[in-house]
Amino acid sequence: MTNNTILVTGGAGFIGSHTVVALAEAGFRPVIIDDFSNSQQSVLEGLKQILGYEVPCVAHDCNDRQTLLDLFQQENVRGVIHFAAFKAVGESMEEPLRYYRNNLGSLLTLMDVMLETGVSNLIFSSSCTVYGEPEVLPVTELTPIQPAASVYGNTKQIGEEILRDVDAANKALKMIALRYFNPIGAHPSAQIGELPLGIPSNLVPYLLQTASGLRQQLTVFGDDYPTPDGTCIRDYIHVMDLAEAHVSALQALGQMTGAGSHYDVFNIGAGQGNSVLELIRTFESVSGQALNYRIGPRRAGDVTAVYADATKAREQLGWTAKRSLREALEDSWRWEQMLRAKV
Ligand code: UFG
Repeated sequence: MTNNTILVTGGAGFIGSHTVVALAEAGFRPVIIDDFSNSQQSVLEGLKQILGYEVPCVAHDCNDRQTLLDLFQQENVRGVIHFAAFKAVGESMEEPLRYYRNNLGSLLTLMDVMLETGVSNLIFSSSCTVYGEPEVLPVTELTPIQPAASVYGNTKQIGEEILRDVDAANKALKMIALRYFNPIGAHPSAQIGELPLGIPSNLVPYLLQTASGLRQQLTVFGDDYPTPDGTCIRDYIHVMDLAEAHVSALQALGQMTGAGSHYDVFNIGAGQGNSVLELIRTFESVSGQALNYRIGPRRAGDVTAVYADATKAREQLGWTAKRSLREALEDSWRWEQMLRAKV
């Protein structure tokens, strides 16, 4: 039998855990390393419920060379999907060194170990944040990169540059960076989903906690943007669609041969822009209840509108988002209700 073990760093996180499911369903053998600094052990139980077996997991910081070396050897790792990173935009501005050390340090250590052990396939989590406030929509992979507006965003930009420079230096690694748009939703079984620690800063987790009574009111950050209803526009993508993009990218890495570049980058979005108010309306229809929200001032650092042209991923990875905004919010809401029923 061919060895198809894939190390998923940050595999207990929101996107990581859903990708573990997609990998297993596609016949890969996922192995997790996660330090549980922003994730919970209960995710492993959820994965077991879905998959019917325990996914191997090392509870450790992946910025540790010896741990990685041991893991690569013991598990016979053949490819890596690197999710492990801090991701809070506001926090990254307050603790830049912690963000640079963690997000870039772990990438460097991982790539060192891959080169040392001869493991060539790497998928890196990047973000649509690299496009900043784009002049033309939708954004393609050729849309100019803007100077990062946050330390978090900068770690993603620098991460992409590291991959590009390593590719230029040698062809030992095959690498794909995926630029995620806004992931929402949950596994339809409601066994895994997003688990924000503390007060959520992202729209959908805050909205869900408002709808379930944990928060009193959602504030819409500004309705005076130059958009049809005045609220910001984003590309909300179901996390299972996003997860499946990693499987497609992994399969594409296998075909990456020859003397040319072994690094590529893809937008992973639904390809549709929705405003904050549109999302709220869709959620109200899904949940059958009115949401308590008010219009507040703009949030510093928010861009007016960004959504993906995902043609390249369709043509070259054979991947396209299949699930609707409504389906994503149905799955999110099922997950939220299940969570609240537990506590
Ligand atoms: N929003 C609200 N109220 C809230 C939270 C968000 O109105 O309580 C609005 C925001 O203003 C924005 C939209 O909802 O218009 C989406 O906001 P999120 O915080 O959910 O997502 P962002 O688009 O700001 O964040 C995404 C990724 C980050 C990334 C960032 C960079 O989640 O990882 O883009 O712009 F860094």
